[in-house]
Amino acid sequence: MKPLSSFIIVCLILAAACVRPALTFAESGPSIRLPAPQTDGGKPLMQALKNRSTSREFSTEKLSAQVLSSLLWAAFGVNRPASGKRTAPSAKNRQEIDVYAATADGLYRYDAEKNSLVLVLKEDIRKQTGKQDFVATAPLNLVYVADFSKVAGETELEKALYAGADTGFISQNVYLFCASQGLATVVRGYVDKPALEKKMGLPLNQKVILAQTVGYPKK
Ligand SMILES: Cc1cc2nc3c(=O)[nH]c(=O)nc-3n(C[C@H](O)[C@H](O)[C@H](O)COP(=O)(O)O)c2cc1C
Repeated sequence: MKPLSSFIIVCLILAAACVRPALTFAESGPSIRLPAPQTDGGKPLMQALKNRSTSREFSTEKLSAQVLSSLLWAAFGVNRPASGKRTAPSAKNRQEIDVYAATADGLYRYDAEKNSLVLVLKEDIRKQTGKQDFVATAPLNLVYVADFSKVAGETELEKALYAGADTGFISQNVYLFCASQGLATVVRGYVDKPALEKKMGLPLNQKVILAQTVGYPKK
């Protein structure tokens, strides 16, 4: 093989390794099986709608695995196992939004089908999920990431509109779950998205759309 060809091949291998480092880990990383979500109880829908609100004051108390499981299921869990469809709608059922959970223990990707959390980074990156102080100490920051590799045949504008709409439905599910369970939450666009995407190791076709902090209200 000519030296130039070898050089190009080495460059291509290095470039491929740089593009998806964390995702490779996420796909093969250890995963934590969540308890089954609790799909009954809580306040009735009309009362939850009455209580739905944004709050920016959080206790540092951790959420239990049970609360986290029910919260993630409410957000974008599988509610019809036969079809794999979810608690929130998505354009053409593409299900292109991934829900990540940033906690003190690390960053995880929610695998709705397996009801588990896949470890992405064993590092506390809560501070990097937003530009407001409370994000660093609240127990949970959800990060909504659109995987545009699942969206073909749309204009850039349509892709962005659908990703925003699909994320909005998930976020509202979280708002209603929190209102139903007495939790505090705020959805957030005030995020350094390029820096967070880099920290999360996202490939170029995956973009952070919004983040959302969840915790118990500050006493
Ligand atoms: C797309 C979107 C982005 C938002 N971004 C932020 C944010 O970065 N930081 C924040 O504190 N609140 C943010 N909010 C929350 C709004 O400020 C809040 O919903 C609004 O003040 C109305 O209050 P309510 O939710 O209690 O009705 C955002 C809301 C939406 C819908």
